[in-house]
Amino acid sequence: MVTNKTFTMLKPDSVENGNIGAILEKITTSGFRIDAMKLTQLTTADAKAFYVVHKDRPFFDDLVEYMTRGPIVAAILEKENAVQDFRTLIGATNPSEAAEGTIRNMFAESISQNAVHGSDSDNNAAVESAFHFSEREMF
Ligand code: CMP
Repeated sequence: MVTNKTFTMLKPDSVENGNIGAILEKITTSGFRIDAMKLTQLTTADAKAFYVVHKDRPFFDDLVEYMTRGPIVAAILEKENAVQDFRTLIGATNPSEAAEGTIRNMFAESISQNAVHGSDSDNNAAVESAFHFSEREMF
């Protein structure tokens, strides 16, 4: 089912580097409506659960440490074709391969510290949104 919603996190490096405002401006001026948003911090258990699909990858422990080291901004975004359009807006996982003008091209430091998360499917967008937000926090 296409929901026209996606889920994002502005990762700890984005918050540490003072890039929340600039990234949100890029998101909203690209046509995404913010349906839910919060500043929060993942626990180790949260990060292990959120990234369980990567649990056997060699970078898993570093990923959990990175994602728990400080606050993140979690948000649900709405736009026609949200999942695909947001992945285009953020660019490739590795910022050195991310197209000019994409969020990772502009704000990410490395493949491991890559500034933003974007859901890869409508189903995962729904699962990830429910991981972070209760019904009454979604608009
Ligand atoms: P994202 O695609 O949002 O979700 C999985 C994360 O794992 C990814 O962002 C990076 O932060 C990290 N990641 C993915 N591939 C690598 C890699 N090859 N080396 C280190 N970290 C990675």
